[in-house]
Amino acid sequence: MILTLTPNPAVDQTDWLDRVELGAVNRTRETHFDPAGKGINASRMAHRLGWPTIAFGFLAGETGAIIERALRAEGVQYHFVQVPGLTRVNMTIIDDAGVVTSFHGPGARVSAADVATLDSMVRFWLRGVRVLVLAGSLPPGMSPDTYAGFIARSHEQGVKVILDADGEPLRLGVAAHPDVIKPNVQEAEQLLGRRLPDLATVIGAARELSLRGIAAVVISMGAEGAVCASGERAWRVRSPRVQARSTVGSGDSMVAGIAVALARGEDLVDGLRRGAAAGAATAATAGTALGAAEDVEALLPQVSVEAIG
Ligand SMILES: Nc1ncnc2c1ncn2[C@@H]1O[C@H](COP(=O)(O)OP(=O)(O)OP(=O)(O)O)[C@@H](O)[C@H]1O
Ligand SMILES: [Mg+2]
Repeated sequence: MILTLTPNPAVDQTDWLDRVELGAVNRTRETHFDPAGKGINASRMAHRLGWPTIAFGFLAGETGAIIERALRAEGVQYHFVQVPGLTRVNMTIIDDAGVVTSFHGPGARVSAADVATLDSMVRFWLRGVRVLVLAGSLPPGMSPDTYAGFIARSHEQGVKVILDADGEPLRLGVAAHPDVIKPNVQEAEQLLGRRLPDLATVIGAARELSLRGIAAVVISMGAEGAVCASGERAWRVRSPRVQARSTVGSGDSMVAGIAVALARGEDLVDGLRRGAAAGAATAATAGTALGAAEDVEALLPQVSVEAIG
């Protein structure tokens, strides 16, 4: 079983239009609503890959109900703590030139009592679980060291943790030694406080972070694939070439691929392969929709994972 925790879910609204004009009424051609939030996406992809998963987090109001309905339709299990207000709607506008503009809200505020309810719920379900995925931003009212606390509790119970966050929750989470982190280059740059302009510096960054006590550090680079470091060992992951339509959710799909490998007891290289195939499948799927299981299967043999000397 893979548990995912998304403290700050969102409904992703994607609008397609010719071009955006500021200060004018823009008429959109097509609008899509998808359940989102990084852990929720990871659960959806893990489910597609045939692995049992339960998504946890906070939901609020009518927009929260959209997420529940979508997960039910996909057959993904969930346990959400209902909080007052509305789950945020993250809007993405894609124009005909392929320019992508997004607006992300802060999320519904949670109280100390809401946090305590979520905490005891996750703690209860952690028993007997293989992997916990902690993903995305934290809503107003949740302390930035939340992920660090979940990592410590998971380790007490022998549960492996994959952390996919950024900023302060990532920095504090890293200090609690999650088993896997999967920042993209920008998130890794922010974490280390320096630029990573080329492959050599990205590999160096992954090694450095892994030596801080993280079993696997995967730094993803979009179409360029990823690098992974585990102690002294490192790999270069080359993603299959696909016609990229929208890479939203590729990282979450990669996290799901790694989580499934960990849950199956496969080795890290298998996780990287499955992760890159899932990420590429999602990149090849339009809007914020995730890749289909058949696409992941078809892409799997095209991923290459090479050890770096
Ligand atoms: N255009 C692409 N073509 C092929 N593979 C891709 C492409 N974009 C992403 N991938 C695959 O998905 C993985 C994760 O993508 P990316 O680095 O964009 O994650 P991310 O920035 O965390 O994304 P997000 O957080 O929006 O889900 C990559 O390492 C790669 O294997
Ligand atoms: Mg990401």
